[in-house]
Amino acid sequence: MSVGSSEKPPVNRAKFATNLGVLAATLGSAVGLGNIWKFPYLTGSNGGAAFLLVYIICMLLIGIPVMVSELTLGRAARSNAIATMQKLSPARQPWWLIGAAGVLAAFLIMAFYSEVAAWVFAYIFKAIQGGILSTDPEVTKSAFNGLVGNPTQSLIWQWIDLAVVGFIILLGVNKGIESATKKLMPILLGLLILVGIRSITLPGAGQGLTFLFQPDFTKLTAASFLIAMGLAFFKLSVGMGTMITYGSYFRDDQDIPGTAFRVAFSDLAVSLLAGIAIFPAVFAFGYQPNAGPSLLFLTIPSVFASMPLGNIFMVIFFILTAIASIGAQISLVEVPVAFLEEKFHLSRQKASIITVLSIVLVGSLAALSNSTLADVKLFGMTFFDLFDYTTSNILLPLGGLFIAIFISWIWGYKKLSAALSNNGQLSNQGIIKVFYGTLLVVTPVLVTIVLLNGLKIIQ
Ligand code: TRP
Repeated sequence: MSVGSSEKPPVNRAKFATNLGVLAATLGSAVGLGNIWKFPYLTGSNGGAAFLLVYIICMLLIGIPVMVSELTLGRAARSNAIATMQKLSPARQPWWLIGAAGVLAAFLIMAFYSEVAAWVFAYIFKAIQGGILSTDPEVTKSAFNGLVGNPTQSLIWQWIDLAVVGFIILLGVNKGIESATKKLMPILLGLLILVGIRSITLPGAGQGLTFLFQPDFTKLTAASFLIAMGLAFFKLSVGMGTMITYGSYFRDDQDIPGTAFRVAFSDLAVSLLAGIAIFPAVFAFGYQPNAGPSLLFLTIPSVFASMPLGNIFMVIFFILTAIASIGAQISLVEVPVAFLEEKFHLSRQKASIITVLSIVLVGSLAALSNSTLADVKLFGMTFFDLFDYTTSNILLPLGGLFIAIFISWIWGYKKLSAALSNNGQLSNQGIIKVFYGTLLVVTPVLVTIVLLNGLKIIQ
């Protein structure tokens, strides 16, 4: 993302140098709180294994095809999300609205995402102090509730997170973060594996594995299909232009479908590891799998409490989670920043400051959702839940739907095929046909049905 992001296209737009660089950067956007916090909490609230299966199907039939589309469009236009859609669409057709909806989605996602990151930051310090390390649900619950119920702490940690993200974007040192992420990601993986091993050797752990891996289809509802699809969008950072921006930095000889598959499956592996770390602990210590957004913050301290050197490992765990979250947040914030810069000819500094300050404003509504504004509800949801729900389950699917329709119906097979085969250099005609067919029919039809059904418009 960093690469050339402060330049005005198309002058010398920089490109990712190596295949590993592309993979690391794209994964850096995909992997984040979505894997460690959102995936477990949604899987827990929607019945476990059956939901996981629907999620994987959505990833294959919707998430990956949309990711391929976004990367392709971005590379073809080499511009920010809105300008890409403007450049590639036929005259007087308003496809740029997809990019505009993406900018809106970026703000709303950041509003609650920065608050979850705030909890992670707070937990680094709580872990250092040691007070939260306990296998007793009462202790971990009151620690979490104490944090989110305190308006000052909720706001201050969010500002700290946004200051960190803002500085990285402002100083244009994203490259440093990228290379840091590349090095730290394997450590996070290693630590997740370690926590997973501890968790599955807890007494009573089997129930957690059954919950995660043995589907009970009676638990699925129209709403859970919608939520699984929303998670597929959110996880792969698609539906709002992040991957268009990344695609604009891809080299012409980069294998886009291959990269998308590798990113999606590595990302799934991280989510599964997080699930394996969390669900056995849910059952071993007597938590509720449907605890909601608090799930990670209750169970993880209990697992570490039952490990030698647990306190130190927990500090490292939350530091690495914070770093992963920052990588994802940079990719989110970059969308409005790049747009403001190019559209209104603002300096990178101004664009970054305006963006971060706007997130501070909207974000405070999410930050105060468990304290001062706990009783303010729209459609029965607090601001936090509303931002979380509407972005994943409405805005991203709509963005993805139109991107799929645009690339298959408007851009068409010829251009898509040339782009995905790198003008015939890759011999992947079979894969290209599968993608084309999927984007032409399967993705749009599935997204439409799941959306309408999940939102109870048809039944
Ligand atoms: N995928 C990231 C995660 O799982 C979050 C994220 C980053 C995102 N960029 C995005 C979600 C763009 C939707 C759209 O944590």
